[in-house]
Amino acid sequence: MNKIEKEWWRTATIYQIYPKSFCDSGNKGTGDIKGIISKLDYLKTLGIDAIWLTPIYQSPMIDNGYDISDYYNVNPDFGCMADFDLLLEMAHQKGIRIILDIVVNHTSTEHKWFQSALGNKESEYRDYYIWKDPVNGQAPTNWESKFGGNAWELDEKTDQYYLHLFAKEQADLNWENPKVRDEVKDIISFWAEKGVDGFRLDVINLISKQQDYQNDYQGDGRRFYTDGPRVHEYLREISDAVFNKYGSVTVGEMSSTTLEQCQQYSALDSKELSMVFNFHHLKVDYVNGEKWTQAPFDFLQLKTIFNHWQQGMSGKGWSALFWCNHDQPRIVSRLGNDQEYRVESAKMLATSVHMMQGTPYVYQGEEIGMTNPGYTSIEQYRDLESTNMYEIMLNQQGKSEEDVLAILAQKSRDNSRSPVQWSSAPHGGFTKGIPWLEVANNYKQVNVQQALEDENSVFYYYKRLIELRKEVEVITTGDYTDLAPEHSQLFCYQRRSEEQTLICINNYYGEPVEYELPMNLVIEQGKYILGNYPELLTDKPQRVIKLRPYECRVLLIEDH
Ligand code: GLC
Repeated sequence: MNKIEKEWWRTATIYQIYPKSFCDSGNKGTGDIKGIISKLDYLKTLGIDAIWLTPIYQSPMIDNGYDISDYYNVNPDFGCMADFDLLLEMAHQKGIRIILDIVVNHTSTEHKWFQSALGNKESEYRDYYIWKDPVNGQAPTNWESKFGGNAWELDEKTDQYYLHLFAKEQADLNWENPKVRDEVKDIISFWAEKGVDGFRLDVINLISKQQDYQNDYQGDGRRFYTDGPRVHEYLREISDAVFNKYGSVTVGEMSSTTLEQCQQYSALDSKELSMVFNFHHLKVDYVNGEKWTQAPFDFLQLKTIFNHWQQGMSGKGWSALFWCNHDQPRIVSRLGNDQEYRVESAKMLATSVHMMQGTPYVYQGEEIGMTNPGYTSIEQYRDLESTNMYEIMLNQQGKSEEDVLAILAQKSRDNSRSPVQWSSAPHGGFTKGIPWLEVANNYKQVNVQQALEDENSVFYYYKRLIELRKEVEVITTGDYTDLAPEHSQLFCYQRRSEEQTLICINNYYGEPVEYELPMNLVIEQGKYILGNYPELLTDKPQRVIKLRPYECRVLLIEDH
């Protein structure tokens, strides 16, 4: 057996839970660990191999847990350590692994390290963070925070600024300090010792900053800290000390990265991480790289990006495959058609990434084709990035309120954070109280209960995708070729291994289209293994295929 066949996560599908919005076991209006436990059987039915839990640690929740104030305790909003231990045990009993989110680019400013460092140059924790003197009475550099505004905040008592690439309540850690790296190893060991199976590493390619802290006259500063000078060294150090020791699976969130960097981060020699998330394919509806804009997506660019990454990672590294997470709008609303063809387009979009090489991630609610909630007023939003950007777009950029709300309805992170729709009960059965964020008002039609009762639902389709990855070897091992890169409507690619050829054909639009399979394919030896229009599986493959709106088909040819 070679390495690719040996590691469990290469044929696995991972399910992401954003606990605050997943399931409230009571009437608080926010989800909790007990709520997750109550849904383990549901996840078992779906067939997933592991759960990635976004942060559950103590936190003032300025950024919903990505601002950690204590890495060793569970946030009381979610439950207690005993609840977590039970979750781990019950999940393991059902054969489901648990992956925790580790946020170590920054801590909350309420963390005891920061509290001690603030206003006190002599604190033993001062050097855990990045402090700089003012330059000409101003912030040390012109870098921008990812959530808007300058990335430096003044500590008045010491007249020095600290760096925060995200909110000012999220202070960046100083990884140059070996004590910080030791703390990180301790945190990860603590959870690994409990039996946690893996870790998702938040914005991990931002941990190493270029040390000369200069102004960026071309951009927002990211080139001085993205994939920085010592990042590979740091990852190797952590990996060696903890991940490899415990056999943890790891997935790194890589912000604005490159293929070459990701080949190294996830190289098959396992010196750094198991796999990586990159986000290039989710910027195809940005105007000139700017997220806070409204535009139809660029289909040809989307394919070019997938081709670049699928071919480039093959044999070198390993990708996390995904459309949705807690920072991204719902894909069926974004690239599909969430009205007329919600079910068809949700299935087609799933197919087009699940048949690629990598490990697929399914974000809660994606498996039933949940849509953006369609909020129409700023009062409905909770996400700090969204409320910050609302102010900036309105007051600094002079956009009209109507335009700003339209942009938020398309791009806000709250689009994916609206509560999971479990049933047609009030608030989608998410809580018996008032939810912290409103449920989408299509919950009476789109919910888990309905999906489980309908054999043609998006849910059963995801279940089949998850099974196929385990049954059909070429999905994991095969190489990748785009068969129609210039086609303006179809995304059609081939996967090939020694014994199998798989063709994945996807119509990304609402108009029918014909496609002629290449002559070198022996289609007589092929059979359809999946399609999103129910009657298809018995069809005999033809050379010319007529695809209906958002139709997709997967053809498998066993080579002899
Ligand atoms: C990551 C998380 C996001 C968070 C940010 C800062 O991008 O996914 O939710 O706000 O890091 O920790």
